[in-house]
Amino acid sequence: MPQSKANKPNDAKSYKIIDHEFDVIVVGAGGAGLRATLGMAEQGLKTACITKVFPTRSHTVAAQGGIAASLSNMGEDNWQWHMYDTVKGSDWLGDNDAMEYLVREAPKAVYELEHYGVPFSRTEEGKIYQRPFGGHMQNFGEGPPVQRTCAAADRTGHAILHTLYGQSLRHNAEFFIEYFALDLIMSDDGVCEGIIALKLDDGTLHRFRSKMVVLATGGYGRTYFSYTSAHTCTGDGNGMVARAGLPLQDMEFVQFHPTGVYGAGVLITEGARGEGGYLTNSEGERFMERYAPNAKDLASRDVVSRCMTIEIKEGRGVGPKKDHINLHLEHLDPKVLAERLPGISESAKVFAGVDLTKDPIPVIPTAHYNMGGIPTNYHGEVLNPTKENPDKTVKGLMAVGEAGCASVHGANRLGSNSLIDLVVFGRAAAIRAGKVIDKDAPYPNANEKTTNEIISRLDRIRFADGSKSIASLRDKMQRTMQEDAAVFRTDETLQNGVERMSAIWDELKDIKLSDRSLIWNSDLVEALELENLMANALTTVVSAAARKESRGAHARDDFPDRNDKTWRKHTLANISQNGKVKLSYRPVHTKPITSEKDGGISLKKIAPKARVY
Ligand code: FUM
Repeated sequence: MPQSKANKPNDAKSYKIIDHEFDVIVVGAGGAGLRATLGMAEQGLKTACITKVFPTRSHTVAAQGGIAASLSNMGEDNWQWHMYDTVKGSDWLGDNDAMEYLVREAPKAVYELEHYGVPFSRTEEGKIYQRPFGGHMQNFGEGPPVQRTCAAADRTGHAILHTLYGQSLRHNAEFFIEYFALDLIMSDDGVCEGIIALKLDDGTLHRFRSKMVVLATGGYGRTYFSYTSAHTCTGDGNGMVARAGLPLQDMEFVQFHPTGVYGAGVLITEGARGEGGYLTNSEGERFMERYAPNAKDLASRDVVSRCMTIEIKEGRGVGPKKDHINLHLEHLDPKVLAERLPGISESAKVFAGVDLTKDPIPVIPTAHYNMGGIPTNYHGEVLNPTKENPDKTVKGLMAVGEAGCASVHGANRLGSNSLIDLVVFGRAAAIRAGKVIDKDAPYPNANEKTTNEIISRLDRIRFADGSKSIASLRDKMQRTMQEDAAVFRTDETLQNGVERMSAIWDELKDIKLSDRSLIWNSDLVEALELENLMANALTTVVSAAARKESRGAHARDDFPDRNDKTWRKHTLANISQNGKVKLSYRPVHTKPITSEKDGGISLKKIAPKARVY
């Protein structure tokens, strides 16, 4: 790496390091991170939550439509229907044990939220209000749509995040706010012993030694040019795991939300269609009736996004460039819009200049969610699979929320199954940690060699003096992902993506930072984030190029069918320092936790079949 003489790097010893000891370190303060933090602190574990933004600014705050749980408040429902829909939504790539855990724990987790103080919207009788959402159906997918998504108007994530933060403080969890986690401290025999973080306002380094690290760092939406996620969604935990030599799982599955505001990328909740909204093309046709006669506009997200893209490709898009679709809500009672969808009423006005009581909102499928991430079991424990043991765990390390891949979403997530994933698995991690952590055991001795390597990396990036700006490389990466790893893929686009992304990886050696300081150095933070993003982006395109079938959100024109015989398996991607990605695979867990004879769902019911809505 080129270095200027004027900015001779410091050696690792010249950084001030402050040591801390905790039973548990949670990295990230979104819904999953805060639920884990709260659960740990409630049990008396000495818990710290480290976050690069103020907790209530985490991306969960933007979650709109709601949280799925079969409460049956607004019609018949049960966990078996929810499980069937989740399995089908995943296009049979999800792990059946994890999906059973999710849907069975969901009602408990939602009632806990209610008791913690989440201000859910209410029915006339005072029960939690539930709305229909895409892919959630009655009668094992037969329909009609079921009202399963519990909502606090269209600001459900906001309500949950504020409540969980307050409760975590009440239980004396310690927060380290505006600290950027650099890397995991791994022992020579592969145990996670803590993390090192940079305190952004004064440049001190903090070494957190702990018995458990929980990564709750969210997704990596920012690898794309147009995305609904916050700018902070840079896949930091995934980057740390990749640098620790551990695999990332199912990275090829990136969800496009059907209704991002055209041009702005801002989310218009699926709850809009749940409340009766619908999509039309340039001929005014409600085209979803043609593609999904049963579920129509409430088909699963991958399906709706593909249908919209086909309409646009075939010349039936709206607007001067015929490159987007209309979402109609103007036929709905203005009282419903004001009560149930106040947030999107405002977003439509601000970001599209539309009064949605009068005009349709221009929308387009927009990168929204990463089904893939850090492989875990349904207790949140991180996996480092081997041939002999595909479920081998990494001691001292957990991952939850969008950073983790349990895998409950498989190849495609159902709307409102994300918020429930956050709280169910944040809670599950806390339950597990309570069992495996010995409060009286000594704290680990953080590995000196790893500590030095982490600091050297920081130093290398801080003093990088090449010729490429961070913004220019990030822009290249985002445009590549948008063009080559989008809603529809082919061998040509994906190979192109692999080549372009590998070249950008090489260009990382030539970055230039202009700010060398350690106080509020956004140039440095963006460089660290870019390295994390690139590990995510490269593993995504390489994993996608290898998967020669169409499944869930991974839709290939050249392999249009799902191929269960060859491809019903999870992809594992390990990336080396020189940007070489090595792929391997692990089997899908087809067995649920509970057998049919003990009251579980029958294997026949959840066996793969054609996925129609
Ligand atoms: O449309 C939405 O409100 C998004 C929800 C989700 O991604 O689960």
